[in-house]
Amino acid sequence: MNDIELIRRTIRTVSDWPEPGVQFRDITPLLQDPRTFRVLIDQFVHRYFDARPDAIAGLDARGFIIGSVLAYELNVGFVPIRKKGKLPFTTVAESYELEYGSATVEMHTDAVKAGDRVLLIDDLIATGGTMMAGKRLLEKLGATVIEGAAIVDLPELGGSDRLRASGLALFTLVDFG
Ligand code: PRP
Ligand code: ADE
Repeated sequence: MNDIELIRRTIRTVSDWPEPGVQFRDITPLLQDPRTFRVLIDQFVHRYFDARPDAIAGLDARGFIIGSVLAYELNVGFVPIRKKGKLPFTTVAESYELEYGSATVEMHTDAVKAGDRVLLIDDLIATGGTMMAGKRLLEKLGATVIEGAAIVDLPELGGSDRLRASGLALFTLVDFG
């Protein structure tokens, strides 16, 4: 089995969670399996080793798990983009719509500097709202998002198309229809 197939098969689908009609793609079995977790991180290390961003910004909450390990491996800093009300210092904020509901994300105003080249990472792209909000936050502070990365794309929800149409380059490993 190749690495991408291994990653795909280790993601669990939970039907009708958190509400009827949603097929939830659950990465926890992947994280629990050390071989697959390593294979996953290696995919991103190979992709970004030469490009070496100035920082990696991870989206709350599952983007923190892969983003922080990747930042450690690339020896760059990690920036958390958090759900509203969690960050203690001065913040910039952006609101967005989700597949189920709406949310606001925040980032510290000193998290990146103007001109920084930042990699934005999350576990999954659905409607693309979360990643778009993250991109807008980083751009508000003058940073450039070199790419948006995720393990999973749900192309039928149109998020990856919308993100690409906004000018964001994307790197995703597996699609689920
Ligand atoms: C999930 C997922 C992404 C986002 C993708 O997080 O981890 O962050 O949804 O959806 P979108 O492309 O439609 O914006 P969720 O908001 O469920 O929060 P959690 O990580 O705290 O569970
Ligand atoms: N976030 C938004 N939609 C999702 C889904 N279908 N599975 C996992 N996370 C999600």
